[in-house]
Amino acid sequence: METITTIPEVREWLDAERRAGRGVGFVPTMGYLHPGHLSLVETAVKENPVAVVSIFVNPLQFAEGEDLGSYPRDLAADSAQCEALGVDYLFVPSVEEMYPSPVATVVKVSSVAAPLEGVARPHHFAGVATVVAKLFSIVGGCRAYFGSKDWQQVCVVRRMVSDLSIPVDVVACPTVREPDGLAMSSRNVYLSAEERAQAPVLRAALDAGLDAISAGETDSAAVEAVMEAVVDRADLASLDYAAAVQADSLVSDGPLHGEVRLLVAARFGRARLIDNDGAVI
Ligand code: PAF
Repeated sequence: METITTIPEVREWLDAERRAGRGVGFVPTMGYLHPGHLSLVETAVKENPVAVVSIFVNPLQFAEGEDLGSYPRDLAADSAQCEALGVDYLFVPSVEEMYPSPVATVVKVSSVAAPLEGVARPHHFAGVATVVAKLFSIVGGCRAYFGSKDWQQVCVVRRMVSDLSIPVDVVACPTVREPDGLAMSSRNVYLSAEERAQAPVLRAALDAGLDAISAGETDSAAVEAVMEAVVDRADLASLDYAAAVQADSLVSDGPLHGEVRLLVAARFGRARLIDNDGAVI
């Protein structure tokens, strides 16, 4: 595995791979890799002759007061895991390499970026879309792998790729969960033992919402009330939102129909956790 820290070098290597007819699979991450990331890496390695992983904790997607400074990092462990899984290139740029001067060009996706996380974290998706556009421009044509745990992020990246005609295939992979249903997330390390014990309530809320839909409920407010009631049972959870929306637009436009997505976000002490699942009506 080659570990690369500069933009020209990664471009050079990957252009040479494509010229030689080898397609590229790309997994963008912020590091501190957990089994959720590793399943994306495994899929990228399996489905592409060349696999690239990037590790970059992107300051643009953290607001003032969020956890940029304390975001967990372990480059040595990440690098060993990537090597063991057969990654060909690990791209680990510094902040100066990615943003040598103050950023004047920002990619802002409207529509799908506006609700839910867009309300809770108003600058987040512009930071994500900007860095992902930049990473796609650096890596070049590829298949890029994202976890469905960040469903709204997948929708934002897909919309950006489509609007800007970026030659990247966005692949959404299934959420990886702990045995008790908690979705894997780098931020789970912030949970105290008591909070960790209650955190699977998010999965339970999604299940209750899905059960209501299976039983014939198509009113989004009613499904949301079912999910809220479940999260309310956990006294350490402070619910941010529980939403039942159309999977592509992330809003509800009358009775739920077709592909539906249920999304929840809640704070447990220092940790703000999100989760989601889908159904077809
Ligand atoms: O999902 C993440 O880890 C980040 O938002 C991403 C896509 C790597 C952009 O910084």
